[in-house]
Amino acid sequence: MLIHRIEVKAIHIHFLTVYPHLINNTLDPLWKPFTVTLLSLCIGNVEKNIKVFCCDYDSNGGNDFIGEFFTTVAKMTKAQNSRQVERFECINPKKQKKKKSYRNPGVIIIRSCMVGRDYSFLNYILGGCQLMFTVGIDFTASNGNPHDPSSLYHEYLAAIWAVGQIIQDYDLDMMFPALGFGAQLRPDWKVSHEFAINFNRTNPFCSDVEGIVQAYSNCLPHIHFCGPTSFAPSSAMWLASLPRPSISRLPLVISDMVETRHCIVQAAKLPMSIIIVGMGNADFSAMEFLDSDNSMLQSYTGEVAVGDIIQCVPFRDFRNLAKSVLAELPQQVTWYIKHRNLLASSIAPE
Ligand SMILES: *[C@@H]1O[C@H](CO)[C@@H](O)[C@H](O)[C@H]1NC(C)=O
Ligand SMILES: *[C@@H]1O[C@H](CO)[C@@H](O)[C@H](O)[C@H]1NC(C)=O
Repeated sequence: MLIHRIEVKAIHIHFLTVYPHLINNTLDPLWKPFTVTLLSLCIGNVEKNIKVFCCDYDSNGGNDFIGEFFTTVAKMTKAQNSRQVERFECINPKKQKKKKSYRNPGVIIIRSCMVGRDYSFLNYILGGCQLMFTVGIDFTASNGNPHDPSSLYHEYLAAIWAVGQIIQDYDLDMMFPALGFGAQLRPDWKVSHEFAINFNRTNPFCSDVEGIVQAYSNCLPHIHFCGPTSFAPSSAMWLASLPRPSISRLPLVISDMVETRHCIVQAAKLPMSIIIVGMGNADFSAMEFLDSDNSMLQSYTGEVAVGDIIQCVPFRDFRNLAKSVLAELPQQVTWYIKHRNLLASSIAPE
């Protein structure tokens, strides 16, 4: 039996240069570096012939064909930096046939071409990257009376179970910090937007999902719900300061919120993903707005988030919960590691 293994590698081609053709009125155009997967470029075969076309952009459509050349990834990767370049004559075969004295209309110079490896979420997990699952629970008045079976309390328990079951397998030690916000606490009944639901600030960790459920049930008689709903991602900042592996994400599950974009913009710099589970039939447009899938969140200071760390999941969409909860996490993790250039450090999987 023959087993083919294709590794998806990324190829980076830097500074393709064409002489002497026009690109927006320059005779010396410099193309931007781009990245393409080796799989889509040459089915992972670095010796496979690749045809490169060069055309002149024409704003009226009908771009003019200038020339073409053949190369392979193996040839292109000989170009290391501007000192060692690879030159390719652009040839228009039709014109070449017509004229004996045909000369190339230009030369494409590849200044740098590198094949790098793209690691997947699974590579990182197998390589020892650990996730830390953190729960944040909204204790505002909107949650209703826990003794009333129709209240959101039961839905909360179900949500903690459901999301916890999905995420706990990515968390090796199964010790989950669980925080609450929007409750009045003893002894002075001051509103707190950041408390350990086991009431131990130095050790807010609960042992596996059952521990969270137990701590949640235990704390209810000792607190008063307060309103209106507010979300304090400062809890996440506090958590980020707790001892933990240097490369980890902190998926924080909260239940309902009024947005605090500024904090999220700051939090995007941390190894953190936030999964917001919307409870009940409330209007989730505010939280879906935070799930900036199309454009990055901006703070009132004008600062733009460096990445998208928010994933919003309505709990009523129970059947798709597992899929939704984990939908963006892998790409957020791989993005963070690449963005922070952490690959060179000890977590690089092999
Ligand atoms: C070149 O000009 C076209 C049309 O004006 C424009 O759409 C395009 O962005 C320009 N490209 C660069 C690299 O400036
Ligand atoms: C809080 O946790 C710490 C560390 O596990 C422990 O030593 C301490 O006794 C706990 N405090 C309370 C009030 O349970």
